[in-house]
Amino acid sequence: MEKTKENVYELMQSKYIHKQKTSNTDRLQLNIRSFADKTYLTVGENCVLNCTINMGDCHIDIGDRVMINDGTTFFCVNGISIGNDVMISWGCTLIDNNSHSIISSERLKDTVVARQEYEAGTLGNNTDWSTVKNAPIIIKDKAWIGFNSIIMKGVTIGEGAVIGAGSVVTKDVPDYAVVGGNPATVIKYTT
Ligand SMILES: CC(C)(COP(=O)(O)OP(=O)(O)OC[C@H]1O[C@@H](n2cnc3c(N)ncnc32)[C@H](O)[C@@H]1OP(=O)(O)O)[C@@H](O)C(=O)NCCC(=O)NCCS
Repeated sequence: MEKTKENVYELMQSKYIHKQKTSNTDRLQLNIRSFADKTYLTVGENCVLNCTINMGDCHIDIGDRVMINDGTTFFCVNGISIGNDVMISWGCTLIDNNSHSIISSERLKDTVVARQEYEAGTLGNNTDWSTVKNAPIIIKDKAWIGFNSIIMKGVTIGEGAVIGAGSVVTKDVPDYAVVGGNPATVIKYTT
């Protein structure tokens, strides 16, 4: 199946997605890089997903009553897990990988094919992902992520935590912590 915006609806009905009927994905843009015979995205009850999800051969799990607002983008090659009653505001990025190797000689393999891949609509398909660091992102129940925040690879955001607007989160956030800044640090605790 082609991975275009136009057939997102068709994709949502397919074996690749397991979505509860009560969730709204009308404005979800889902781009799956390569289709294997499996479920890529699981969405629980009463969610609204107005985001863009770009994913490789991995799985994203979204719980119940999760609201994800416009302009938020996921880049996922390892896995992203989101609990229940989570809010993710607009303009956020959740990225569970570095996209490219930090070693310049390994990155050259990406630059030499970038233009051809872009024109063929296969950007990233030839990347040697074994040279790219990645680690799963976990967002626990009742967390709230403020607008324009960035959640980096390997981060676990604790239950009920609040991520202040514009934060760059590079380390785990404790349960019920309020964090902010770049890199995000604890401002205070809430309930
Ligand atoms: C995180 C937030 C909820 C905290 O609100 P609050 O409890 O009223 O916090 P305050 O405004 O009293 O600020 C407390 C401290 O945190 C700092 N702070 C607040 N927001 C911050 C942020 N985004 N980044 C870094 N520091 C921040 C303040 O400067 C203040 O520091 P000080 O104690 O040294 O003076 C709020 O600042 C925020 O980011 N709101 C954005 C909400 C949002 O994204 N809404 C979109 C719709 S979902």
